[in-house]
Amino acid sequence: MLRTHTCGELNLKDVDKEVVLSGWVQRIRDKGGLIWIDLRDRYGITQLLMEEGRSDAKLIEIARNLGREYVIQASGKVIERVSKNPKIPTGEIEIDVTRLKILNNSKIPPFTIEDQTDGGEELRMKFRYLDLRRNVLKENLMLRHKLSLESRKYLDSQKFVEIETPYLIKSTPEGARDFVVPSRMNQGEFYALPQSPQTFKQLLMVAGYDRYYQLVKCFRDEDLRADRQPEFTQIDCEMAFVEQEDVLNTFEGLMHYLFKEVKGLELPVFPRMSYDEAMRRYGSDKPDLRFEMEFVELNDLTKNHGFSVFDDAELVVGINAAGCADYTRKQLDQLTDFVKRPQIGAKGLVYVRWNEDGSFKSSVDKFFDSETLKQWAEAFGANPGDLLLILSGETNKVRVQLSALRLEMGNMLGLRDSSVYSPLWVTDFPLLEWNEETGRYHAMHHPFTAPKPEDAHLLESNPGDVRANAYDMVINGVEIGGGSIRIHDRELQKRMFHVLGFTEEDAQNQFGFLMNAFEYGAPPHGGIALGFDRLAASFAGKDSIRDFIAFPKNNSGRDLMIDSPSTISQEQLDELALKIVLQNKE
Ligand code: AMO
Repeated sequence: MLRTHTCGELNLKDVDKEVVLSGWVQRIRDKGGLIWIDLRDRYGITQLLMEEGRSDAKLIEIARNLGREYVIQASGKVIERVSKNPKIPTGEIEIDVTRLKILNNSKIPPFTIEDQTDGGEELRMKFRYLDLRRNVLKENLMLRHKLSLESRKYLDSQKFVEIETPYLIKSTPEGARDFVVPSRMNQGEFYALPQSPQTFKQLLMVAGYDRYYQLVKCFRDEDLRADRQPEFTQIDCEMAFVEQEDVLNTFEGLMHYLFKEVKGLELPVFPRMSYDEAMRRYGSDKPDLRFEMEFVELNDLTKNHGFSVFDDAELVVGINAAGCADYTRKQLDQLTDFVKRPQIGAKGLVYVRWNEDGSFKSSVDKFFDSETLKQWAEAFGANPGDLLLILSGETNKVRVQLSALRLEMGNMLGLRDSSVYSPLWVTDFPLLEWNEETGRYHAMHHPFTAPKPEDAHLLESNPGDVRANAYDMVINGVEIGGGSIRIHDRELQKRMFHVLGFTEEDAQNQFGFLMNAFEYGAPPHGGIALGFDRLAASFAGKDSIRDFIAFPKNNSGRDLMIDSPSTISQEQLDELALKIVLQNKE
């Protein structure tokens, strides 16, 4: 071994020990004949000391020629430090170096390997292996490791078995876009990378494995955001002979276990909320319950006062920003600009200030007297000093717009504390959603999700009203996971494909393997998949999953370090019998 200890473990108890350490040079200070080197490895930092005159002259010369990030091996004796650093575990000792060996030198890194680095995002992505040396990223990956270990422990204790499913599968038209891989041995044909192992885990239930799980890579060619990567990891699970309640309890159990083991936190029992209720109260199917600011619908109190914006609206709905009546004109204009941004798309914002002195001031004073505004305020349960923010329009749109404003107010008022965790289950999702572009219904979750038995008779007559046995796990406004009870009956699956606009032939071509399997004794089954990258980010109280993935892609889906995607050689194209014609390029 090139070391006797790591750089994170020595302390006063080790004084006088002869040790050998290896690691990277973090920092060198050379003052008045004294040279200190901070030596870093995965475990921490240990200070090395050399002194001109006392230490060997050759040693001093080597030390003076070291650069940042050189890899060195240092031998010496552990001594007590004169000026101690209480911030790090090794801060009370240093090593009086007697031997120094350069194991490898290093070019000057393009950015500083410090907690507060001077490197921009692009540069750090390009030199990801250097960025990964920084504490922040190291801690994120350690957290991720711990979460995967503990998840496996819990699932094993619940009799789940980890089974791998293939990465080269078949392209399907549902869901996001597939990444496809051309086949050399079957020219003109393509594999697809799985968007999830959904059908395979259902087949494992048919095969009798009873409880399956897998920490598995999934691939989706969709637009990227802070919480979306083209390849990401799921904790994917499936259980046979269960009902929705069993799945929810098992995975609520997993979360309780993980928060206890990894963060030492006791989570509350997860509240449950139906999709309809979540949309009505928070305008979102993933409400952030760290703060209230619930929606209040004002249709009855606002109509027939001559204000056509409200009179013509399907829904008039608002939130109460408690204590914000003193917002200035400028602040209110900024909120109006916020909701009018194209991404949000509201036409305007109505405000009502309930001043501390009991008077009212609103942007619609022309149409509504103080008496009416007071009625509104009472509907909100507001108090003097509060500010009502009201939007109106088409129900679905206005709810989404007000939800964005609610989150913005939550941020501005510091109500979204990253050390607080508010989980919930959202249940009873609609089975189908209408897609304007394709002019047909699409499965809201996926086509194997079972309708609620009491709604199944509406499948053909009123598809939009059918609720699904589907559920999402939400923490702090982030969809951590989603799942459903599956259709295990071939006839029902056939009806579902029919409603989704598949001909019998299409359904057979795409999903024949699953429908056929259902003829051989498919047990009732259901499951869930948790977004593992999102889970890790959420444990650390962060929004972006990128820094919880060792080698992520940027927002254009590129890996800047290996420069991918890239073109392939003519030879490779020939082997695959592919010819590239870029239609939109000159
Ligand atoms: P779903 O599509 O809801 O369900 O995905 C499950 C969870 O995976 C995470 N997730 C993502 N994370 C990062 N980047 C992405 N691009 C991305 N897409 C999804 C989310 C999401 O909640 N087969 C079903 C599960 C089931 O029914 O059992 C499925 O994949 O956290």
